[in-house]
This record gives sequence, C-alpha cells and structure tokens, in this order.
Amino acid sequence: MTPTASGYGASGYGARITGVGRYVPERIMTNAELERMVDTNDEWIVERTGIHERRIAAPDETSSTLGARAGLAAIESAQIDPATIDLVIAATCTPDGMFPAVATRIQHAVGAGHAGAFDVNAACNGFMSALSTAVQFVAARTSQRALVVGTETMSRIVDWTDRGTCVLFGDGAGAVIVERAVEGEPGRIDALLLRSDGSQADLLWASGPCTPGEAAMGAMGQEARIVMDGRSVFRHAVNALVETSMEAVTNAGLTVDDIALCVPHQANRRIITAMADRVGLPMERVYVNVDRYGNTSSATIPIALAEAEADGRLKPGDRVLLAAFGGGLSWSAMVIEWAGVRASRAGIPTGILAARV
Ligand code: UT7
Repeated sequence: MTPTASGYGASGYGARITGVGRYVPERIMTNAELERMVDTNDEWIVERTGIHERRIAAPDETSSTLGARAGLAAIESAQIDPATIDLVIAATCTPDGMFPAVATRIQHAVGAGHAGAFDVNAACNGFMSALSTAVQFVAARTSQRALVVGTETMSRIVDWTDRGTCVLFGDGAGAVIVERAVEGEPGRIDALLLRSDGSQADLLWASGPCTPGEAAMGAMGQEARIVMDGRSVFRHAVNALVETSMEAVTNAGLTVDDIALCVPHQANRRIITAMADRVGLPMERVYVNVDRYGNTSSATIPIALAEAEADGRLKPGDRVLLAAFGGGLSWSAMVIEWAGVRASRAGIPTGILAARV
C-alpha cells in the first residue's frame, strides 16, 4: 500500500463487496400527503430537493427489522451461507432503543452464527464509516466475511411540524457483504477517506433520551426532533463532497474520467448536481434515487448501490465513487473497484430470502 497524508491509495485495500441488497417499507408518503400536514407544496419540494415521495416504516417495523431484510437480500445476492458471516456492523442513528446494538438483532435475524456485532453512528455518514471499519477488519484478516448494513427509521425522529426538515427524510435499509479481494479477480477498495468537523455539530442534530435539560425539549415543549440549519448544511455539503471526492480519486491513482458511476449520499438532488458539476462528472454517471426515497440517512448509499446493481449500472471492474455527508459534521469518500455480485453473475433474481422474513 502507498501511504498518503490522508489514507492509502494506489494499490488499495484487500477487500471487496460481493453482495448487495436493500429493503424499503411498503408505505409511500407523497408530497401531496405532506401538503395536508404542514404549509408546503409539491412544487416547492420537487424544485428545492428533487423529492417526490418517501417510505414510512409500519408501526411494527424498526431499524433492526428493516436492516435484517436488507441483510438477507445482500446474503442472497452474494450466494453465501449466513452462518459464515463473522462480523455484522449496522450504521444507524435511529436504533430500536439505546441498547442492545441493532447489529445484534440483525445478526440473529439473518442467522449469522455468533458473529461479532456492533453499531456505528455517524448520522448520514454512518454507512461509509461502517463500511470503512469492515474493510479494515477484512483487509487485516480479523474477519473473513462481514455484513454491513445502513438502516434508518428517520420518520420516528422527524419533527412533523417543521416543514424545513419533515419533507426531506424517509425510512429504509441497504446492506453489503464484504470479503477478501482475490488475486486476479475484480473487486477491491482503491481509496477511502473519513473526515469530520465537530465545531459545526449544532448545524444538524437530534436530541435523545440522554440529552440534558432544556436542550432535550423542542420548541413545542415536546421531545426535540431533528434540528437543521439547512442553508449552512447545504453549503458545507457541496464543498466537502467535492473536495473529498477529488482527493479520493487522486489517492486511487485515477482521474474523474475513470469513474464509471458515482453513488453519492441522497439528501437533495441540488446537492448532487452541484457536486457532480464541480467534480466534472456528467449526470449520466451519477446514481440518483432521492426522488423516490428522500434522505434515508445511512441507508441511502447501500440502497442506491443495490438498485444500481439491479439496474445493470455496475459491471465487474467498474470504478465506483461513493461520497457521503451528514451531521457531525461528518463526511467521506471511497473509490471501489466493483467486483460484481455472485447472484447477478449467475442470473439469479434477488428477493427470495428477503421475502421469508
Ligand atoms: O443528509 C445531509 C443533511 N442534510 C442536507 O444535506 C440538507 C441540506 N439542505 C438542504 O437540502 C436545503 O437547504 C433545504 C431543502 C433544507 C432547504 O432548501 P433551501 O433552498 O436552502 O431553502 P431555504 O431554507 O433557504 O428556504 C427558502 C424559503 C424560506 O422562505 P422565505 O424565508 O424565503 O420566505 C423557507 O421558509 O423556503 C421556505 N421553506 C419552504 N417552503 C415550502 C422551507 N421549507 C419549505 C417547505 N415548503 N417545505
């Protein structure tokens, strides 16, 4: 590996993604429904965010049940026995409770033997943080096969009286299987970067059961929900995504022209187009599904990866740029050489295992 000031590049990490899956709740909430709840309208939401609809978890669904379904879909796409998974990492900022970790419930639900399991919370940057962790475990041979899940029930922490935030978020889960890279076969992690700036923590945050005093209470005198300075977050997001993406591409020894597909965090279509424009990526090489799911926080990138694979937008050997940004502030970029998933190579449709949950 070639050490750089900010990570490793050139020869990459000895890990690859061999399976990918997603699960979203059935219930669709349209912009028209939001018009009946707060002072907003479809035209504003579509123009300012690109979002047309989002999914909302059923009362009996939680981040662990959504994550288990996505995990099973990823296991199926990798064509592996879940008992061979020895590590489960769940990224979530909306856990079922303060503990145990959502990852342990997912470990049990998918039948992952006695795999080590823990959660990572880096808000919308959670999946990238969890994936980076799994890559280190696998590259160091501490884990043979890891399941990494991004899963969120954002509808449970949204302030449904705040039109500035409630139109943006949705529920869902995505997952990947991480295994060792194999000499002579496509698939590895070329570069990864994780960054944060806690001095800007109050731009985007949500209180919880351990928040002290008045800070725990929202303007309505109820338990506080997501609080965001949207305009400032927008500006930081574009700058950070551009800078980190360019750095990751350079660390991978590539140029933007080598990137077959960019799969960015899906928060706002305008953030994605501004980033793509400044990085020099045509939108045909950028995956966007924010129109259908809104911002599902740590689930956006694995959901998008699963859909890009299902849509035939990812081919073995493709260089894929992942980039995320969220509360913290916290952001990241990763360049992956896509391995291709076993199920798509075998032409086996996904969804069979997941349908059993
Ligand atoms: O996952 C990462 C974290 N999140 C993000 O990356 C989100 C980053 N921020 C954004 O996506 C955008 O800033 C928003 C979508 C949140 C807001 O868009 P904007 O273009 O920055 O709008 P704004 O906050 O500057 O508000 C413009 C106007 C305001 O009215 P006035 O003051 O001009 O009269 C708002 O009150 O739009 C108004 N507004 C709305 N109007 C109708 C704000 N929300 C709404 C709404 N419907 N839902």
